[in-house]
Amino acid sequence: MKQLNRRQFLKMGALVAGGAALASCAPAATPAPAAPAAPAEQKPAEPAKPAAGAQKLEIFSWWTSGGEIEALNGLFEVYKKRYPGVEIVNAAIAGGTSSGGDMKAVLQTRMMGGDPPESFQVHLGGELLGSYVAAGQMEDLEFLYKEEGWDKVFPKTLIEIASADGKPYSVPVNIHRSNMMWYSKKLLDSVGAQPPKNWDEWFVLAEKLKAKGQPTLAIAESGAGFTAHVFETMMIPVLGPDKFTGLFNGKTSWEDKGIADALEILKRALDYANPDFLNVSWGDVNDLLVNGKVGMIIQGDWTPGVLWSKKFEDFGWAPAPGNDGIYQMLSDSFGLPKKVKNREAAINWLRVCGSKEGQDAFNPAKGSIPARIDADITKYGPYHKWAMEAWKKDKLVPSIVHGAAAKLSFMTDFMNAINVFATKKDVAATHAALVKAAKDAGLQK
Ligand code: GAL
Repeated sequence: MKQLNRRQFLKMGALVAGGAALASCAPAATPAPAAPAAPAEQKPAEPAKPAAGAQKLEIFSWWTSGGEIEALNGLFEVYKKRYPGVEIVNAAIAGGTSSGGDMKAVLQTRMMGGDPPESFQVHLGGELLGSYVAAGQMEDLEFLYKEEGWDKVFPKTLIEIASADGKPYSVPVNIHRSNMMWYSKKLLDSVGAQPPKNWDEWFVLAEKLKAKGQPTLAIAESGAGFTAHVFETMMIPVLGPDKFTGLFNGKTSWEDKGIADALEILKRALDYANPDFLNVSWGDVNDLLVNGKVGMIIQGDWTPGVLWSKKFEDFGWAPAPGNDGIYQMLSDSFGLPKKVKNREAAINWLRVCGSKEGQDAFNPAKGSIPARIDADITKYGPYHKWAMEAWKKDKLVPSIVHGAAAKLSFMTDFMNAINVFATKKDVAATHAALVKAAKDAGLQK
């Protein structure tokens, strides 16, 4: 397990080092000439109702919010069209943290009990490799990548962070950007402000809104995870992208003073958050923006998916303060657990996840950009196009809270430490807790 971790750290190093290589295989921002569709995509079958006793396809995810539901249904529709005889069981579980805490708990029990679902949502990177693959619970997918020609349509870096010992273990459906700011145009206009480019400008804006009795920052901390997400976006500008990534490949010490400095920023920023933040859940946080209760949400680009589904248009977007030119990435993927009941149905699910048709059915509603480089750009809106451009030229860093940077146990410790911080605001104790978590996860000697 230790060895795998070390390899994983090297991979995260490669993630940043591979930025240039990635740029060359990033999704095209201008319409590419239509690539010939795969044969299966040319002949859509009529959806038919599966017969009683038909094979089941049970899919685990934590996609239960607006945008997420439409996106997942998009994949299911493609599946039903191609494989009409199979009954799809959508076993999505809401709640917990913003990165699927409740689903992961149920999943672990099922996996340990030898009763895995046919497939489940898993973040590419540390979460996949350091946890499920390291525990020997997944089949490698080299055969499927070969059959489907995926080495030609997924960026190399994504394949690398899906792989252990050179073998891929899951199929990425998207690329999300996590270090984003979604702001209320109306509230920013009300104080004549532009979206803040750094945290100094952010505090100036927050003071102006405070003078009007208006919280600036949305926080949803009924469970751990949301504040930790915001905190990551503070660590990045304080440490810089290279030192940030170094936290996961042994090059940066978790004792670095930058971490305490970022905690100081968070401590100050919490004074400008919605006061009821301990009672707000991730699923409800978007309503704070819709109802004009906060100036902005700092979250990943699943947020526009939720806002679009609520028909809320009065928001703008920009990188989180100090994060311009840095793409903090994560990717949702699906893999093949060992000993699934319906292996063929599961493999066909993965074929859909990796197909152009599947990705173009999923990502427009989700807010993420497709993992494939040959997406049909005409299906995507202005935000997607902006993100596709950024993906081509920005520096890449991995997300902690969304599983790209380190294994599950570290994510949990990280989120819990920041959850405690949100109420206690003890910089020294939290910094010490983070150093301990890093040591426990083998990220630090
Ligand atoms: C992330 C996940 C996204 C989105 C978000 C909110 O971890 O990758 O797809 O679902 O959580 O739950």
